[in-house]
Amino acid sequence: MAASGSAVGLGNIWGFPTNAASNGGAAFLFTYLLLAFALAYPALMAELIIGRHARANSIAALQGISRGPKTRVFAIFVGGLGILTVSFILSFYAIVSGWMMAFFLDPIARLAGAEQLAGWLTTDGEWRNGLFMLGFMALTIHIIRAGVRDGIERWASRLMPMLIGILLLLIIYVLTLPGAMDGLRAYLVPDFSQIANPRLLVDAMGQAFFSLSLGVGTMLIYGSYISKRENLPVTGSLVALLDIGIAVIAGMLILPAMYVALAGGVEIFNPDGSLVAGPALIVSVLPELFGAMGPVGLFVALAFFLLMTIASLTSSISMLEVPVAFAVEYLGMARGRAAMLVGAGVAGISLLIVLNFDPLFDLVVNWATEVSQPLLGFFFCIFVAWIWRRDAVLAEITEGAPGAQSGLFWKIWPLYVKFVCPLAILVVFLQSWNW
Ligand code: PFF
Repeated sequence: MAASGSAVGLGNIWGFPTNAASNGGAAFLFTYLLLAFALAYPALMAELIIGRHARANSIAALQGISRGPKTRVFAIFVGGLGILTVSFILSFYAIVSGWMMAFFLDPIARLAGAEQLAGWLTTDGEWRNGLFMLGFMALTIHIIRAGVRDGIERWASRLMPMLIGILLLLIIYVLTLPGAMDGLRAYLVPDFSQIANPRLLVDAMGQAFFSLSLGVGTMLIYGSYISKRENLPVTGSLVALLDIGIAVIAGMLILPAMYVALAGGVEIFNPDGSLVAGPALIVSVLPELFGAMGPVGLFVALAFFLLMTIASLTSSISMLEVPVAFAVEYLGMARGRAAMLVGAGVAGISLLIVLNFDPLFDLVVNWATEVSQPLLGFFFCIFVAWIWRRDAVLAEITEGAPGAQSGLFWKIWPLYVKFVCPLAILVVFLQSWNW
């Protein structure tokens, strides 16, 4: 539940549908499904297996499976880059999650008749962005201080079922509104002329890596908390299936909602004819739609932004856990202190981005998700398939999955992480530099 909570986040409910919308609808969906199962799932398994074997933070874990002084240095580099990357991801994620919290409070302010406050909550500004980012970081730090069982696991298992419930209710409601079917068509009817577009491939891979929280050590550290009795290939498949499933289902909410907004007179296309994506979609198109729904719109908005806030929180705690686990295990810090200090550091970077939004926000997002994450995924594959001893890998998998060496997973996965994944990641990665 916790690992699914990490995977399911803004990337699923926001990133996936808008990526699909701007990349030919179902053409993106197909490519995404292919890449998620063929590339991201094997990479997820690599992280879970290393983590459960080592029972430690990413740097110590990679060092533990290293075979000589050179690979030990490489381990520090890969683990360290992961910790840095996840801290940067959290620094922009907390800003966007802060917007979700502000938009969640907006309907409450309206119901209470505080129109001026509602206006402030929904207007872009440094004070609003800064304060809500800090509020969101405080929540994240609070859960992480409570530890793995009482913090992460307890909250993930409370919040995830709530998230799925709200998502399904919203879909049912939106699909009854005029215009929704056009949105469903735009989402599910493929425009295959897009499939050869290199941008589509790069976007789909970036999306798959981001969505499964890969490369940065999150899944490794969560793997280290999984019991040896657990069947890892099954656990990993459930996490991947739930994550992919929720992304696909979220598309059935966001795209129909956009077309409902269109039917209600809201502009959903950019001047160049493409669908509005990115921040404008969630903070302007959807609120306009909710606003046009009359009183019921207040409750729909409340449910929607609660959904977004919950999805963000179960992901942000998994991000903060990576540097905190490192500080606790490696530097010997107390957990509460580590959560406060690391959290404050990330909030500091976040504040810098808030104050210099235009140059910094896109730069940090692109570097972390399109450059660093796929590269780290590549390094993880190298570690597990080329550096770690094959019999040790098998021994780890068969814990909790006796007989795994004669199963399908062991027949396909090792070859996959050894050749197919690194090569494919590299090809797609180089593409992104080409264009
Ligand atoms: N998987 C999360 C999402 O889809 O929103 C984002 C994420 C979480 C990325 C944790 C990286 C990470 F370590």
